[in-house]
Amino acid sequence: MLKGKTALVTGGSRGIGRAICLELARQGANIAFVYAGNEQKAEETLGMLRETGVSAGAYRCNVADFAATEQLVRDVTADFGSVDLLINNAGATRDKLCMRMSEQDFDDIIAVDLKGAFNLIRHTSAAFLRKRAGRIVNITSVAGLMGNPGQANYAAAKAGLVGLTKTIAKEMGSRGITCNAVAPGFIRTDMTAVLSEQMLAGAEQAIPLRRIGEPEDIAAVVAFLCSDGAAYITGQVIQVDGGLRM
Ligand code: NAI
Repeated sequence: MLKGKTALVTGGSRGIGRAICLELARQGANIAFVYAGNEQKAEETLGMLRETGVSAGAYRCNVADFAATEQLVRDVTADFGSVDLLINNAGATRDKLCMRMSEQDFDDIIAVDLKGAFNLIRHTSAAFLRKRAGRIVNITSVAGLMGNPGQANYAAAKAGLVGLTKTIAKEMGSRGITCNAVAPGFIRTDMTAVLSEQMLAGAEQAIPLRRIGEPEDIAAVVAFLCSDGAAYITGQVIQVDGGLRM
């Protein structure tokens, strides 16, 4: 159980991030979540979290902004007393074939999907090291492990998260802090809602478990990586993809 711990979850207002917030709350953790701008989704998530009986707060912040994330961590620490679990889930896509991808498309996605995780780790790490405790989970993607046409920016950012995860595991392991990554396959959220039914049906055929995943499939693994049972797991990339990549 995670009673008494505070989780900071980026991109917690919807999709996989919302499911992670709800699962960690179900296990007793207080939840501070970050969202980019959709107030309505953030309010909905906040309401669901409060129903579980834990303390919860929603923070509007662009994870790509170094100074803003520093202030965010200060605010969350002031509101909740500490941050114990950091879940870097915020992510965005801007798909185009590389030959048509603008410099802005590339830079923006790297800034959110890769630098965003660095920013949050950078601003929480001093407190983790002082406490000699902390769990970090970065949400990467099978696209970062396999590559994916149209996702040069996204796949590069997600592959970068794997290197970041392993480096942090090595830098912080001696203080009992773990850092792991979860790599989802196709999960039913707003991010995949843009894909055609035909494309999703094709994906299902390529997945040994023959279904698109649900946000709860990812949340369960994230919660495990935050639990006492996962104390001896660090630097790993856990694929949760129905067997898509093996
Ligand atoms: P989503 O689009 O439903 O949610 C993304 C979340 O990130 C939202 O809460 C949004 O507010 C937040 N966000 C986006 N840009 C932000 C920024 N600059 N600052 C702060 N927050 C920001 O996406 P979904 O599907 O829930 O994805 C969550 C994570 O899982 C992402 O990192 C995504 O790359 C990853 N993933 C998703 C897969 C899928 O099939 N849905 C597959 C593999 C990985």
